[in-house]
Amino acid sequence: MNKICFFDTKPYDKLFFEQLKEQYEIEIEYFEPKLGPKTAFMAKGYEAVVAFVSDTLDEETIHILEENGIKLIAMRCAGYNNVDFKAAYQKIHVVRVPAYSPYAVAEHAMALLLTLNRKIHKAYIRTRDFNFSLNGLTGFDLHGKTMGVIGTGKIGRIFIDICNGFGMKVIAYDPFPMKDSNIQYVDLDQLCSEADIISLHCPLTKDTFHMINKDTMKSMKKGVFILNTSRGALINSEDLLEALKEEQIGGACLDVYEEETELFYEDMSYTIIHDDVLARIISLPNVIVTSHQAFLTKEALHNIAETTLQNCRDFFDDNPLQNEVCYQCSKGEACPKENGKRCF
Ligand code: NAI
Repeated sequence: MNKICFFDTKPYDKLFFEQLKEQYEIEIEYFEPKLGPKTAFMAKGYEAVVAFVSDTLDEETIHILEENGIKLIAMRCAGYNNVDFKAAYQKIHVVRVPAYSPYAVAEHAMALLLTLNRKIHKAYIRTRDFNFSLNGLTGFDLHGKTMGVIGTGKIGRIFIDICNGFGMKVIAYDPFPMKDSNIQYVDLDQLCSEADIISLHCPLTKDTFHMINKDTMKSMKKGVFILNTSRGALINSEDLLEALKEEQIGGACLDVYEEETELFYEDMSYTIIHDDVLARIISLPNVIVTSHQAFLTKEALHNIAETTLQNCRDFFDDNPLQNEVCYQCSKGEACPKENGKRCF
């Protein structure tokens, strides 16, 4: 049995990993703390660590993991913007779960939009209190509206299909457009100026950091809705708050937030929140925030456990690592992985 350890464990993660671990001949020790420079020492005695988007995998943490004999970081998520690949290169292999359920995320984005537009979150509270009035609950038809989709990868394309099902007009922006698709691609300026609703489905990179800022928001239609189920730092939150207050932005559905690491996934209901921008954004009636839960379906959790354990098994069996990411290939540069080998 190979031994791995698991950071930032939540009951819903453990349930699915426990169901599958025997099949992969892997023993798992579950730790509650997040991985970071102060907790990395706990990995001593294990062969691999399983980490998540909310863990800190900076240079210092990676150095401590290496000193403690860790050879593999298995990310149980798709995004990897929290990993210092330069620090890990040639030392620790990094694998991830490139796709676990794009449907889960795309469906959550639509659920948020429907909730905010039709004010279901307000109606639910009213009727529980036997308040059956409709004042203030007016929404708009999605049918016939223009949806602007930024990023047409796995999730973006499913979201486009969902929007088409609602009879919306869909326009999209992606620097790497999908060939032979029926997607109507436009440039980012045109998307911003024509869309009634904009949904973000691109990764966080140095090019996309704060791509939604006061300038881009000024170029949007007044009252536009913005949906973000990708990564918080795609949006400059302070600029978003200003634009919401000025009513330039008519509504925001946020499953992610740029400073979410210390807050999301935890019960903070008895804590004084020091992030005034988040607190103010959450207080607005035309904003819905969920706590990075778009992925949270049974199917996605099963697929995450299965792929993560397969990634670890492949590593232990000296097989090529199909889902490896490294300093070179994460930047789109040439890497031995292209020839079916490990990145290094
Ligand atoms: P993907 O890799 O299949 O697609 C990403 C698309 O974005 C690609 O088509 C790429 O060409 C495009 N892109 C790259 N740079 C861009 C730019 N500057 N502007 C516009 N588009 C750009 O990724 P997938 O699976 O569709 O996931 C999208 C994002 O969703 C992930 O990067 C991740 O941040 C987020 N995500 C969020 C989850 C949640 O629970 N909220 C769960 C899973 C993913």
